[in-house]
Amino acid sequence: MNLRIFDHEEDLNASGAGLIASLLLMKPKAVLGLATGSSPIGIYKHLIALYQKGRVCFEQASSFNLDEYVGLPVDHPESYRSRMNELLFHQIDIDLARTHVPNGNATDLAAECRAYEQSLETCGPIDLQILGIGHNGHIGFNEPGTDLSGRTHVVTLKEGTREANASFFRSLDQVPNQAITMGVGSILKSKQILLIARGEDKAKVIREAFLGPITTQCPASLLQCHPNVVVLLDRGAGRGIL
Ligand code: F6R
Repeated sequence: MNLRIFDHEEDLNASGAGLIASLLLMKPKAVLGLATGSSPIGIYKHLIALYQKGRVCFEQASSFNLDEYVGLPVDHPESYRSRMNELLFHQIDIDLARTHVPNGNATDLAAECRAYEQSLETCGPIDLQILGIGHNGHIGFNEPGTDLSGRTHVVTLKEGTREANASFFRSLDQVPNQAITMGVGSILKSKQILLIARGEDKAKVIREAFLGPITTQCPASLLQCHPNVVVLLDRGAGRGIL
């Protein structure tokens, strides 16, 4: 594992964006695994700035998002499809047809999960998977102690996860109860993983994930089994390590 702690947000963002930009330079058809949530936003902003300066091109790249809420209309501002369109896809030259986000409104969710996994198999493996981490150690929406099934599946969100995401909605009861998520197995198939965490409130879980035992009680600890993980932390999130 390659772990780096930054004093300045801008340096963290530049480091993450630099990793993605250099991958695209070497491999223009790279498959990117993307996350929503607040952790990667600064990196996406930095990537957009690099794109505007002509230093990175997404024309031939494709992407797979980790997860999507179940039952939230796709044009709802908090659907992960809407968030990705706004935060990244509409600001770069990626072909929208090659951006994949699970369909949380599919009538047959199990079939949607199988189809998503099939597309991952066909287009993958993912060259670089971006991850945030939940306070309880979730990656994607793979919650602790639940079925950490290897493949894309439907999960019921823990109350703590819904509460953490409630700030994006008008009230807690508007946060969906379920989501589709790539499984830990799907995530671990990625060639490289880039995990980002910011803020002192993530320090405890970062310590558990990377210095604690490998356990399904902390899904992120399973990343210790992966040979190529880069972890970028701000000083707050790195506090439990240094
Ligand atoms: C988002 C995702 C989640 C978040 C995690 C951290 O696509 O899969 O695992 O990465 O909940 O969220 P933030 O970054 O908002 O702290």
